Amino acid sequence: MKKRYLLSPGPTPVPEEVLLDMAKPIMHHRTPQFSAVFAECAEGLKKLFATSQPVMMLASSGTGAMEASITNLFSPGETVLVVNGGKFGERRGKIAEAYGLKVEWLSVEWGQAVSVGAVEEAIKKNPAIAAVLTQGSETSTTVAHPIQDLAKLTSGTDRLLIVDGITSVGVMPMPMDEWGIDVVLTGSQKALMLPPGLAFVSLSEKAWKKSEAAKLPKFYFDLAKEKKNLAKDTSSYTPAVSLIHGLRKVLEMMFDEGLENVYKRHESLARAARAGTAAIGLRPLAPEAPANSATGVFTPDGVDGAKLVKDLRDTYGVTFAGGQDQLKGKIVRIAHLGYFDSFDIVIALSALEMALAKTGHDVKMGAGVAAAQAELNKRYGG
Ligand SMILES: Cc1ncc(COP(=O)(O)O)c(C=O)c1O
Repeated sequence: MKKRYLLSPGPTPVPEEVLLDMAKPIMHHRTPQFSAVFAECAEGLKKLFATSQPVMMLASSGTGAMEASITNLFSPGETVLVVNGGKFGERRGKIAEAYGLKVEWLSVEWGQAVSVGAVEEAIKKNPAIAAVLTQGSETSTTVAHPIQDLAKLTSGTDRLLIVDGITSVGVMPMPMDEWGIDVVLTGSQKALMLPPGLAFVSLSEKAWKKSEAAKLPKFYFDLAKEKKNLAKDTSSYTPAVSLIHGLRKVLEMMFDEGLENVYKRHESLARAARAGTAAIGLRPLAPEAPANSATGVFTPDGVDGAKLVKDLRDTYGVTFAGGQDQLKGKIVRIAHLGYFDSFDIVIALSALEMALAKTGHDVKMGAGVAAAQAELNKRYGG
């Protein structure tokens, strides 16, 4: 027997009480009973996104909402500025290109956040840019982009700010209405502590207005149709009934904890992961703008990151994420989003120290754990 720990930045662990709610017999979705659950989720999501606008629930992974935020808002030939500082920035632009948009790529060094000045400059150079597309947190590089400052560039203009919040919604405050973000989207299998299979997206009034003129083809992800149905406490097509039940429970748990406390917990776990990995002597991937969703660190010279991640998973039972593309074999990412608490970080660092020591790397066992414990104990008045 091996006890397994899922410490990856998605899918993330699901709390037992949520699993139990999702195991209940399937309810028919066109019933007042299910509509009541759906309506409760819709209200909860508005609170989570901090918006007065509806948040549509789609049966898809997060990429479905990324695609919907292109097809519902643009016409062929329009220009968008895509922040490309990692795997998901790249995917963002590829989706836009697939639909015939002109993509201005704003390349950002992996591990760095986008500079607001560079976005401002790009817009000045090309006023045809109809929208700025970015991640809140670029999961592949564990970077947090400066969303509030980017929103200041687009607020009060016709230009949209579209934020892939897949690893930032529920991790850090990103109040959609207050900051003036035009589109926020996320997925279920991250901070929302659910299995994969749901995506969520909300549009500002400005974005809804723009969507009326959008000519790109769409059918399944027709957000105006979803909005109409959501107003009647239902969805256009068969919803992921069990996941919606789980969502109701998750939102209840998040509001019981209090959103401010949810954000504080993420920040504290992130600080502990950073302190712990620094004490092990590992170089951070995102030293200047680290995200609170996951912490990426370079593996020491001579230690193959991919082999380390495999050993951690297969021998120790602890699943981390490795690096993608140019970072393949070079980094380890420790997640701390969603159903994560202090002792998940202790497990992560402890396993990392043990697996590193086994490679022959000079590790002082317990150094990372001790640094994290000191940081984590602040949560308990220690
Ligand atoms: C920032 C970000 N965007 C997009 C995605 C893609 O989401 P999905 O795999 O749910 O389609 C992910 C998944 O890890 C992500 O972290």
